[in-house]
Amino acid sequence: MTETAQMKNLFTEHYGPAAGPLYCYFAPGRVNLIGEHIDYNGGYVFPAAVSLGIYAAIRFRPDSVVNLKSVNAAGGVTVDLTRPIAYQEEDGWGNYPKGVLRYLQAEGRQLKGCDILFRGTLPDGAGLSSSAALLVLTAYMLLHANGETAIDRPQLARFCQRIENEFIQVNCGIMDQFAVAMGRKECAILLDCETLDCEYIPLALKSHSLIIMNTGKKRELTESRYNERRRECEQALAILRRQRPLKNLCQATLSEVEEFLPEGAVRKRARHVVSENGRVAKAIEFLRAGDILGFGGLLTASHDSLKNDYEVSGPELDAIVARALAYPGCIGARMTGAGFGGCAIALVEQGSAEAFAAAVAGGYQKVTGREPQFYAAGIGDGVKLLETWGGG
Ligand code: GLA
Repeated sequence: MTETAQMKNLFTEHYGPAAGPLYCYFAPGRVNLIGEHIDYNGGYVFPAAVSLGIYAAIRFRPDSVVNLKSVNAAGGVTVDLTRPIAYQEEDGWGNYPKGVLRYLQAEGRQLKGCDILFRGTLPDGAGLSSSAALLVLTAYMLLHANGETAIDRPQLARFCQRIENEFIQVNCGIMDQFAVAMGRKECAILLDCETLDCEYIPLALKSHSLIIMNTGKKRELTESRYNERRRECEQALAILRRQRPLKNLCQATLSEVEEFLPEGAVRKRARHVVSENGRVAKAIEFLRAGDILGFGGLLTASHDSLKNDYEVSGPELDAIVARALAYPGCIGARMTGAGFGGCAIALVEQGSAEAFAAAVAGGYQKVTGREPQFYAAGIGDGVKLLETWGGG
């Protein structure tokens, strides 16, 4: 059965048989290939939308009630559009779509009642941006199913980032929402986080494949340490600005970092940021020149920098990356996303995915006692309508 046919069946199970048009949408998760902890420092990131993500089916209702249910979680959340919408701890994941409803209303949009069913295929807490996918999916779907077809995707990404920052109160950058909204099949997105200018670069990995490795360690304490890193970067920038007017930390040079920042955490964080931004530029050069080996080497250098200078890796991420690199057909590996658990990526010789997974799993399990998961990552499109039933 296709994913959409399955969604239609599940929708009927949850909400009853057809009564008006039903629409099915999809939003992908993302991996970041390189450029980690760079988006909030104004430099370049290089994410791609993956084929895992969240499906949603929506049908409008004649009243002002919005029902939110998920195949992945029991219960559900009901919202009355005529009443104020507030964040409530007990609503869990439902706060994401609630935030979208509230912020769309605040923009003056007239929303209709609807029944929505979600189904996610992204592993939970794995750092593949399921929250960005849920926000962008809900916002896109509500606008699109309501007849708005010319949706400005970068603006949609900004809108969803604002909801995550203000309503969910997670101080993230723009990368995840942007990748989910703007993804393109077989391409990664070179995004300038200062201007939001972007370019699609075909992810032509020649005889290698991209493998996602889930450490099975859920991200913990991510938020407080993420905020701490952001503060350290702000401190570094404030000090460097005494020397010259920098727009953002990525504009600093490595020699300025070494010369003007005091030895210790702040200097190390800045060293990661400036060197990582440089690696993104180099990675694009290598990809364009078809130098996949060079590209892979930069992934590994990025991991080392995140581990030693930015200190956002962890025993599980380090162990899985080390096991991956020990495999002869692996030419590069690194953690992806915020860190502190979640997923890593590896570039592995085509055709050896299974042998690779077996080799890495064995060694990794021995060291950490956890069972990792592996996904061959298809690179797909951003949020989109998949199918409509009974519509005009
Ligand atoms: C999380 C945030 C992003 C970005 C990454 C680190 O995924 O949501 O905005 O900062 O961490 O690169």
